[in-house]
Amino acid sequence: MEESLYERLGGAEHIRDIVSDAIDLHLKNPVIAPRFQNSDVNRLKQVAHEFFCAGAGGSECYSGREMREAHRGMNINEQEYLATMDDLVQAMEKHGVAPREKNEVIAILYSLKDDILHV
Ligand code: HEM
Repeated sequence: MEESLYERLGGAEHIRDIVSDAIDLHLKNPVIAPRFQNSDVNRLKQVAHEFFCAGAGGSECYSGREMREAHRGMNINEQEYLATMDDLVQAMEKHGVAPREKNEVIAILYSLKDDILHV
């Protein structure tokens, strides 16, 4: 049977590094950094890791809030949404994620758009 996206990305350990770097980039990205001013970064990294793993086919359980609930009231715009995708792409490239896996991750993120933008 074909390996899951989770396995092809190198499993939990590799995903943790990618997610951690992507969030570090968010904190330095002028388009979105102000949004995370009051965040507990360690908690955010942990729940984002779980979310990513679970979404890629890992057995991790996501303990955070639903996407719509987590972003409700922020009125996030298209530019901010693209900025988070850019940071994640940059983190994936740093960690040598191949084009096929990178595109699958981008497609999953894009599919979450309606629960995150302008909610
Ligand atoms: C596909 C895109 C995105 C995904 C997969 C995503 C994922 C998540 C996850 C898993 C959480 C944690 C939920 C929890 O606190 O329980 C979260 C929280 C959050 N997200 Fe997003 N997010 C995305 C886009 C964005 C964008 C575009 C912004 C705006 C810049 C944003 C800002 C935030 C903020 C401010 C929090 C709360 C952090 C906190 O409570 O400390 N997110 N997001």
